[in-house]
Amino acid sequence: PKYTYVDKDTCIACGACGASAPDIFDYDDDGLAENIYEGDNNRGVVPIPEDLYDDLQDAVDGCPTDSIQVSDEPFE
Ligand code: F3S
Repeated sequence: PKYTYVDKDTCIACGACGASAPDIFDYDDDGLAENIYEGDNNRGVVPIPEDLYDDLQDAVDGCPTDSIQVSDEPFE
């Protein structure tokens, strides 16, 4: 499985990730991205389903600040 969260310390609210992976990433009131998948609440603990892996990879590749963290293990 894959887990993901956005490092908001480096996100510049560019908006690319939500366009690439709208089922995974949305934006907070400051425009910073966060993982909203199935109540993950940007913790990086809810497994992302395989059918969203391509979207996730597109988002990772498109982020200009490498803020999207991905791991095979939950982040907490
Ligand atoms: Fe932020 Fe990168 Fe998304 S800068 S808005 S996490 S593409």
